Amino acid sequence: MKEKIIIDTDPGIDDAMAIFFASQSPNLDLIGLTTVFGNVPVEMSTDNAIRLCDILKKDIPVCTGAGKPYGGDVEPSFAHFVHGDNGLGNIELPPPSRQEDPRSAAEFIIEMAKKYPGEVTLVAVGPLTNVAHALDLEPELPNLLKRVVVMGGAARVKGNVSPVAEANIWNDPYGAEKVFATEYAKPLTLIGLDVTYAVSFSVEFNDKLEQLNPVIGSFMNKAAKFYTKFYSEVFQNAKEPVCYFHDALAIAHIINPDIFQYQDGYIRVSKDELCYGQTSFEGTDNPMPNPAWSSQPIVSAALKVNDDKVRDLIQEAYSL
Ligand code: BDR
Ligand code: CA
Repeated sequence: MKEKIIIDTDPGIDDAMAIFFASQSPNLDLIGLTTVFGNVPVEMSTDNAIRLCDILKKDIPVCTGAGKPYGGDVEPSFAHFVHGDNGLGNIELPPPSRQEDPRSAAEFIIEMAKKYPGEVTLVAVGPLTNVAHALDLEPELPNLLKRVVVMGGAARVKGNVSPVAEANIWNDPYGAEKVFATEYAKPLTLIGLDVTYAVSFSVEFNDKLEQLNPVIGSFMNKAAKFYTKFYSEVFQNAKEPVCYFHDALAIAHIINPDIFQYQDGYIRVSKDELCYGQTSFEGTDNPMPNPAWSSQPIVSAALKVNDDKVRDLIQEAYSL
């Protein structure tokens, strides 16, 4: 049976890659997209999610979620400098073909989890705000979901919005703390910068996607040009221009978990000014555990990945 997944997303160029990758994968059934602020304002996330479904020619429900963080008195800021003014690399696209689904993101997640108890995998690749709201609305949700996979955080490596914080967690550390402090039927999987920065995507790789799939591949190739330009500025000493499709790694984990190596541990999220959004990870193997961490639910953090295998999986999906 195909695995049912909902992607909670803020598209975003790498979000687009994750959505296309999941939609192309024969073993996954993408039953809905829920949107959140993050890379772009939430209204743009919704428009972009519908536009991506239009490119795929799929009528998947798209439900709008949170426009601001779960906690804290912080106005959201967006990452147009990474993803373009329209969030999709400034590629001109027709307006969305349809309206969003009337259900809120949190309502949709809960409704699907109740309709298919124990079958739905929730893949969160934006700030964790919608997931936190859904947990508030339905306390049984953690046991109704099959599992939760999060692209976010940096367990053993530095951050990308500050020396210590990764963007999704930095956008809403309060929501993240709630999500990490919840016990699920299976331990939550964290796909953080530890693995997403270990898989680079070259200009040649993106050209190849276009050859393999003239519809979604050509869209990704064009969008990736903008994204690659951003990464060239960040990594000025890099040998060749590349980009990082962070969110797609969460899908790769679902398709083939064996290409990653994991460690069980506990996560706390900082909210003080300097360390805002930091995910500090402590393994379960510490013989002298600190209760501020060891009293938390166990999460499984991906720390290593076979980068060639991820690229192969994506190319395979694009050739179908
Ligand atoms: C994460 O932040 C967003 O910019 C990307 O879409 C990804 O989800 C990477 O830190
Ligand atoms: Ca994202």
